Amino acid sequence: MNKIKYIAPSILSADLSNLAQQIRLVELGGANWIHCDIMDGHFVPNLTFGPILVKAVRKCTKLPVDVHLMIEDPDKFIPQFAKAGADYLTVHYEAVHHLDRSISLIKDFGVKVGVSINPATPVSLLKNIIKKIDLLLIMSVNPGFGGQSFIEYSINKIEEAVKLREDNNTDFLIEVDGGINNNTIELVSDAGCNVFVAGSSIFETDNITAAVIELKQKI
Ligand code: DX5
Ligand code: ZN
Repeated sequence: MNKIKYIAPSILSADLSNLAQQIRLVELGGANWIHCDIMDGHFVPNLTFGPILVKAVRKCTKLPVDVHLMIEDPDKFIPQFAKAGADYLTVHYEAVHHLDRSISLIKDFGVKVGVSINPATPVSLLKNIIKKIDLLLIMSVNPGFGGQSFIEYSINKIEEAVKLREDNNTDFLIEVDGGINNNTIELVSDAGCNVFVAGSSIFETDNITAAVIELKQKI
């Protein structure tokens, strides 16, 4: 049983013209990680930012920087994101050709390894590599945009991930991403999730610090 409970605000919904201030506000609320959503316009139908922004985030905070790569063929860019200061690099099961190789590549750079699965992808597909990862990111929306509704069956997937972790006697963190807010976070926490990514429910509010505090109280 991994009892860690972390909040990871996603800067996808932040005011990027004020990045340092926005990060400061979530830090004041007790945020644990800063989550960066990297989108390539191919794997997902949206484009965001690259290693340059991760480097800027790195300069703004001492918190771990959690980089979620929603890009095809991520191996090409893993070195750049590692050098930009990522603490966790997460690749999508659906976007890589050779997952075992991608995991090794991330480890070669001394960065913690995450693997993410889309809502339609079963947890069981990860059983062969499960002992090699530090983080399993379960998408609870179809990746690409902030502000979407939580997909209910993600709860079952979190429970399956908890079981897979126990069965393999390992201790990777289980992270959930998409539609996390005051109404959904408790259920997700009860299912055994460790790391809660939240974008719009933190940054699209009148009081960013209070929003983090409120979420933290529910986990
Ligand atoms: C979606 C991204 C998320 C996004 C979540 O593809 O991976 O990290 O920021 O946004 P919310 O919390 O608004 O659902
Ligand atoms: Zn994300």
